Amino acid sequence: MSADHSTAPCACASPGPIDAPRRRVIGIAAVGLAAPLAVTTRPAVAAVAGDRLVEEDAEGTPTPLRAGDIKPGKPLLAYPLDAKRGKARDDTRLNKVLLIRLPEADMSPETRARSAGGVLAYSAVCTHQGCNVKTWLANEKALVCFCHESKFALLDAGTVISGPARRSLPALPIRLEGEELVIADAFTASPGVAA
Ligand code: FES
Repeated sequence: MSADHSTAPCACASPGPIDAPRRRVIGIAAVGLAAPLAVTTRPAVAAVAGDRLVEEDAEGTPTPLRAGDIKPGKPLLAYPLDAKRGKARDDTRLNKVLLIRLPEADMSPETRARSAGGVLAYSAVCTHQGCNVKTWLANEKALVCFCHESKFALLDAGTVISGPARRSLPALPIRLEGEELVIADAFTASPGVAA
């Protein structure tokens, strides 16, 4: 990513007045952008069918996540595990995966087909300018990016509810092996900010 998003303002519609707590959240999100991305999108290496998903912040040996580890409505950041290397499949932020358990009855058929045990997986990198996205607004049924307030419909293929993002959040089809969450197919689109 060539732009320094930790300082660059968004040339999009004004998000309105920002209170102190939100300033802190935005600041934290901006810090997450400090690591530059060599390319804007790189779908082939970010996730491979058969990879287990492991918790991003777990300490010690990565342990495959089970469907029961994902609490209803509570997003969890994970990454695909390259079992041979014992580490993340890809070393960039494009590897970040958001897992969330939502009611299957509320999912569109397309989305339900990509879920496993009520758990959905999406890229955790906003398609607008690349902030991490991991806040679920249950009352709006939307995932929000606090950098510029894009909202995504996770129950309906990650489509944009409101901008400035214009591209859906890429979905990651998953399946269960026993209780473990396993990647079933590649991301539906390139994770990250489109070129
Ligand atoms: S980075 Fe701008 S809305 Fe997410």
